[in-house]
Amino acid sequence: MTPQTRAAITAVHGYLPPDVLTNADLARMVDTTDAWITERTGIKQRHILKGEGLGTSHMGAEAVRGLLAKTKTKPEDIELLVCATTTPDFVHPCTANLICDMVGIRSVGSFDVQAACSGFLYALTAACQFIVAGTYKKVIVVGADKMSAIVDYTDRATCVLFGDGAAAVLLEPSPNGNGIMDTLLRSDGSGAKHLHQKAGGSRMPPTAETVAKRLHYIHQEGPQVYKFAVAGMSEVTTELMARNNLRADMIDWVVPHQANRRIIETTAERLGLPLDKVMFTIQKYGNTTTATIPLCLWDYESKLKTGDRLLLAAFGGGFSWGGAYVTWAYDGASVPKLNGNTPKPRLEKSSWL
Ligand SMILES: CC(C)(COP(=O)(O)OP(=O)(O)OC[C@H]1O[C@@H](n2cnc3c(N)ncnc32)[C@H](O)[C@@H]1OP(=O)(O)O)[C@@H](O)C(=O)NCCC(=O)NCCS
Repeated sequence: MTPQTRAAITAVHGYLPPDVLTNADLARMVDTTDAWITERTGIKQRHILKGEGLGTSHMGAEAVRGLLAKTKTKPEDIELLVCATTTPDFVHPCTANLICDMVGIRSVGSFDVQAACSGFLYALTAACQFIVAGTYKKVIVVGADKMSAIVDYTDRATCVLFGDGAAAVLLEPSPNGNGIMDTLLRSDGSGAKHLHQKAGGSRMPPTAETVAKRLHYIHQEGPQVYKFAVAGMSEVTTELMARNNLRADMIDWVVPHQANRRIIETTAERLGLPLDKVMFTIQKYGNTTTATIPLCLWDYESKLKTGDRLLLAAFGGGFSWGGAYVTWAYDGASVPKLNGNTPKPRLEKSSWL
């Protein structure tokens, strides 16, 4: 029997829009303070995508362009692109289609995955199967979200949490046996009442009334979601460790979804892992939903070494949650880091709009 092909992340690249919204800026918009936001969430600032006609696809495309440049990959070599997003540009076409068009990836499959903050892990798990099955050899997985489009900037309990951003990874057959070793996905739709966006879909199409009632924004019951998030993140990481015979001292990095610093700290504590083994970007990017995990990988890339053991974990709307056990496939220190931020947003407004 031939040994099974393993999928590996062989490159990562991120994009953050240039405009920054600080806690001090928010304190001028709603009744909050830098001290409250910092203490309760760990967030100091977040990036916001500004510019007429720019949507999630703009940031996704910037991340993919960087990924292609960094790996010297031609768009025509990509065989599939999967985009995780909870803020698609449109109901249809899907954002993955738009990103492909923007970066010159033509006539290959591309689709979106919607699993809120767990979306990147869902998309990674789905995309991984095409490599393992031997169907494709170069697949891109993007996590991109323009949360500022669905955040109510009069609701102090949610508007302080979210930011905009995108990051993309290249998946290929493992060059050295390292890669995605195990994944775990969970969901519970009964959690929807605690975290949702009511209007804009087929159940409640947009009307003057839905707009007036602010139903196109995120509704989040913070304390309830917090409780489930801690339980869910702990559940997947503990289960992945148990079924892969991993002790805490064998883990090099925890790569958690960045929703709240306190959720991450509690998860690490339950695993018995020191915080210097945990990736944090929340202080500068906030919660970028599907982009948090790949942005962490991008931020910490230079510290990652071949064979490092990583535990990825996320929790979000749905409820949906999940995890992945990954052994890192390359030496991050030897990768030249491109600057993912262009000084001004490149206009991506399609001619038909
Ligand atoms: C949203 C969150 C930061 C709120 O923190 P919290 O410690 O639970 O705070 P609470 O909601 O209990 O509110 C405590 C008090 O702070 C107030 N408050 C809420 N937001 C505030 C803000 N931005 N500034 C100042 N005060 C604020 C509340 O009104 C409340 O006041 P009260 O005691 O007078 O009623 C936290 O619950 C959280 O992170 N939840 C999970 C988010 C998440 O994981 N989402 C899933 C992925 S998207």
